[in-house]
Amino acid sequence: MVAADAPAHPPATVRLAKFLAHAGVASRRSAETLIAAGRVSVGGQIVTDPARDVGPDSGVTVDGKALAGPEPRVLYMLNKPPGVVSTVRDTHGRTTVLELVPADGLRLYPVGRLDVDTSGLILLTNDGELANRLIHPRFQVPKTYRAKLGGGSVSRDALEALRSGVHLEDGITAPAQARRVSAHEIELTIREGRNRQVRRMCKAVGHPVLALERTRFGPLALAGLELGACRRLGEAEAERLRALACGPAGGAL
Ligand code: URA
Repeated sequence: MVAADAPAHPPATVRLAKFLAHAGVASRRSAETLIAAGRVSVGGQIVTDPARDVGPDSGVTVDGKALAGPEPRVLYMLNKPPGVVSTVRDTHGRTTVLELVPADGLRLYPVGRLDVDTSGLILLTNDGELANRLIHPRFQVPKTYRAKLGGGSVSRDALEALRSGVHLEDGITAPAQARRVSAHEIELTIREGRNRQVRRMCKAVGHPVLALERTRFGPLALAGLELGACRRLGEAEAERLRALACGPAGGAL
């Protein structure tokens, strides 16, 4: 039985190299180099083992300077307007997705990309490892798009071709879900993330995309978030994303 005054969650411990990376000191690889060089102490003693388990109370120092511990991991959902770029910086001075999200001093970056002309759901986080997994093809995270199409009313054959695979210059696309929303609009769910994939798939079946919006990313939906607005994900939503990224193809984050 747990004593009444015991903390609900004991402080989490992680490997020393990961702790340094999460504290923003260096990448995991560079942190290992720092540790091997004898520049890192735990509880006043130099530690050269990057796998040593430490937590916020372990007294980790680098070159004698104490570390506050890992930054809180945050995830935001943004409804990106068209015309906003999803890179961290833009050489043409266009608004970036980072400018639409309150960073509160944390280093955020986008999870994958949307074309400048595409609107809709994009995630931003300071959790680099989670972000890498969510966009890695191995994890096959489903992404759903609404596309307004030119080229006349969408035929059954075009939908069938989108579902079974379309020949693009970088290879045939994996099976997708496609449904007609109206004569000139479809909903398409893909598990790949190739450059301009939806636009290229639709064009290849005779329907150039006139407007494109991402409405879902994995278990998350835009659900009424206004264009240009963002919200921080709750713990349950963040957990569902982490579960995706730790699935059969994954491992602990
Ligand atoms: N597919 C595209 O063609 N564009 C996007 O922005 C996202 C997916």
